Formats: sequence, structure tokens, C-alpha cells
Amino acid sequence: MSAVPGRRDILKSAALASVGLAAHGAPSKTPKVIHVGVVGVGGRGSALLMNLLRLDGVVVSAICDPQADRVANAQQMVAQTGQPKPEGYSRGDQDFRRVADREDLDLVVNATPWEWHAPISLAMLRSGKHVATEVPAALTVDECWELVETAEKTGLHCTMLENDCYDRITLAILNMIRAGVLGEPLFAEAGYCHDLRAVQFNTVKNGEPWRLDHSVRRNGNLYPTHPIGQVAMWMDINRGDRFDYMVSMSSRSRAMHEFAVKQFGASDPRAKLKFNQGDTNTSLIRTASGRYISLYFDTSTPRPKEEIMRLQCAKGCYSALEDKIFIEGRSNRSEGPGWLHSPHFEPLEPYLTEYDHPLWKTRGPQAAGSGHGGIDYMEMYRLIKNLQLGQPLDIDVYDAVTWSVLAPLSEFSVANRNRSVDVPDFTRGKWKHRPPLDSDAII
Ligand SMILES: NC(=O)c1ccc[n+]([C@@H]2O[C@H](COP(=O)([O-])OP(=O)(O)OC[C@H]3O[C@@H](n4cnc5c(N)ncnc54)[C@H](O)[C@@H]3O)[C@@H](O)[C@H]2O)c1
Repeated sequence: MSAVPGRRDILKSAALASVGLAAHGAPSKTPKVIHVGVVGVGGRGSALLMNLLRLDGVVVSAICDPQADRVANAQQMVAQTGQPKPEGYSRGDQDFRRVADREDLDLVVNATPWEWHAPISLAMLRSGKHVATEVPAALTVDECWELVETAEKTGLHCTMLENDCYDRITLAILNMIRAGVLGEPLFAEAGYCHDLRAVQFNTVKNGEPWRLDHSVRRNGNLYPTHPIGQVAMWMDINRGDRFDYMVSMSSRSRAMHEFAVKQFGASDPRAKLKFNQGDTNTSLIRTASGRYISLYFDTSTPRPKEEIMRLQCAKGCYSALEDKIFIEGRSNRSEGPGWLHSPHFEPLEPYLTEYDHPLWKTRGPQAAGSGHGGIDYMEMYRLIKNLQLGQPLDIDVYDAVTWSVLAPLSEFSVANRNRSVDVPDFTRGKWKHRPPLDSDAII
């Protein structure tokens, strides 16, 4: 064996360090070329590919999707940037195994429907590739453990593409927590409440027809990671605190049926579907240190998309719905004495300027124009940069499964009269000693 580490060894040593199996490998000073395969090039996979192609040091050499026209479109996207046309794989839903067989890929981006996330990620890890999967990372508790055990055993990265963690406000709030301005986080209210009836019934461009089956079969919080990832970052989950247990409750189902009747007529088979998923779901999650989170999920009712995010800390609070912030001693300094002078919120904007995160200060212009207000660029930029430098990733396998497992656990609680259910400690005790995410290092 050569004494000089090759590209794979350097990339692997960073993954080992991030899952706590080895000391940091000597990080490479020269950014490496990262060879990438993309599996699943529908709406999301194409958007991720576009952001990958904007980064230096990325070569996309494999595209996989059972839909050949989508593969051809993605191959063209790559070729248009001047890179060689990547190999295409479209021989059905198991063809990702031929991608796994390749020896030249460092990273596989997995943007397939939910049920494919864990099987594809596991195949890539087992064949020696880092994997970045779309949300959620897995659908069952067993799959979550399998991802952890495989990432630990192989020493490879298994990250989840939770783009909301890179939101400008989210990172500014993290900055304010680290600076002691907001005080210690105590409670958060967060939700994914987004009318996806047309997306589920596939009556719009870029529909996601595979989502409907989940609403028929399952009942719980099916999409927890967007809101919970940000909260977990603020509350140092898996890095000093951890989710201890949760309870979950769903409403009855009505709106999906009414939508189908209105759209397709009462005699259409889609109007006869029975939906197990309650139209709205609420979960309560308690942490080991005594914080808690109220988490909402609703993709079934008619409503505008709401950014439900409220964080209460010991020295103040932030409300996304109000787009405002309150810091005791600062927001109410003009108030007179006495309890009748209730404190009031301030606009967030001046705080955003004062506490803007270094990532947004330095990369904001590059992110402008990319999806979801720039966060899609930021997540890819951070992933590739960390791989190139041999650094631990911002979101590791423990984060990926801890945020994802809330879906199956909520299903269990809903099905069992809202019984409380323990959240597994995927770090096996390491959460007590793992340092908080270094906000300043996210640049
Ligand atoms: N983070 C975000 O902001 C965000 C936004 C949208 C979607 N998503 C997530 O991205 C994922 C994909 O969503 P989408 O909207 O692109 O769905 P989509 O239906 O548009 O695309 C999924 C693609 O995967 C392909 N596919 C299915 N099975 C496959 C297999 N076995 N191997 C390879 N390819 C396979 C399909 O043919 C399709 O082209 C989902 O997990 C979704 O939740 C995330």
C-alpha cells in the first residue's frame, strides 16, 4: 500500500473524523476535483445538478434515472458547461447499482423519491462513495440505524441535503445565539405547512405523484426535516443536547378527498381513495436538557405557505411569521416603567445586517438567483468545499437520521393514541461530548 494518501483516502479521513472514529486526517491544502454522480434527475435533482455545475472543481460523470428523457436532459446540462457528457443510466429503478459499481466517483447525490433514499445511499456507501441524499434520509428506524452503522463502518460521509439550514435568517439567528444576544434556546415552534394537494395529485408542472401513496398509507409528520434541521442547529442537538422523546397527534382527513372530488369528479378513482394521513399533524419533542419543540406538518389543506418558525430563548425571541425579533433590554429600552408598558417586537432587518452570517457576507452574491432564495447554492457550495478540504461536513449522518426518524416515530405515536415514544440516540452517547457546530467555520 502506498504511504502517500490518495484522493479517496484524504476524503475518507475527514468522514472518519466527523463520525468520531479517527482523529482528523491531514486536510489537503489544494482543493480536490470531486467526481460526482447524480441519481434521480426530476425537478429537484436537476436543480441540484445546476448548482453543482456552478462550482469549481466538480466533474459530473454519471447521471441515473429510469426516465431516459430526464437523463438526456441532465447530460445536456453538463455538456453545455464544457465538461464531457456524463455516462447515462436509465435501465430501470435498479440501475443505480451500475453507478455504485463505478470506481471513479467520490460522491453520489441522491434526489429520488423518499422510498429510494436509504437503499440508494446504502448501496453507494457500501461501494466506497460519499453520499448526499435529499430529505428525509430514511423512512424507518431500522433504515436510520443501517445508515449510521454503514457510515461508521466505511468511514464515509452520509449527509442530508437540508437546504433550510443555510437560510440567511437561520444562520444569523445561530450567530446571535453564539454571541449570547438571544440567550439560551428554550422552545421552538416550527412547521412545514405547504398546500401540496396539486403536487400530490400531479395536476401541476413538476408534480410529485409518488407523494400521494404516502398520504394514503401513512399518518404522522411525513416531512419533518426542513423545520427541525434549523431548530436542531440552534439547540445543539447531537452536540451537547439530544431529542429524548416525542408525542404526535393528527386531525381527521377531509381536504384531500374534497380536492379530488372538485378536480376529477366524484366518480373518479382518485375521489374514492381513503387517506390515512390526517390533514394536519402536530408533534411535541422534548430534549434531554429540558427544551421542547412544537412541530407542525400539513400538506393537505388549502392555505398559503406559512413560514412557521418561532424561537424563544432566555433573553428574547424571534418570530418568522412576524418577521420580527425581541431582545430584552434592547427592544424595549424606550419603554417607560410598569407592567402596562408591554414590550414590543422590532423589525428583523437591522439585526440581520448586524449579525449577518459570514457565509452570506462572503457568498451572498454567488448564491443570488439560485433556488429557494440562494440556500440551494449554499448547501452545495458547503458540501463540495468541505469534501475538497477534507473537513467534516456541516450535517453528518447523525443529524441526517435524527431529523428523519421523527417521521416514523410520529407515525407510531399517532397510531397508538399519541403515546410518547423515545428518540433513539444514534450517537450512542457521543452527543454529550461533541462540540457545538462552529458557526464561524461555516464559510
Ligand atoms: N430540499 C428541497 O427543497 C426539496 C425540494 C423538492 C424536492 N425535494 C426532495 O427531493 C426528492 C425528489 O423530489 P422531486 O421533486 O425531484 O421528485 P420528482 O418526481 O420530480 O423526481 C424524482 C426522480 O427520481 C427518479 N427515480 C425514481 N426512482 C428512481 C430510482 N430507483 N433510481 C433513480 N432514479 C429514480 C424519477 O424517475 C424522477 O425523475 C424528494 O425526496 C423530495 O422530497 C427537496
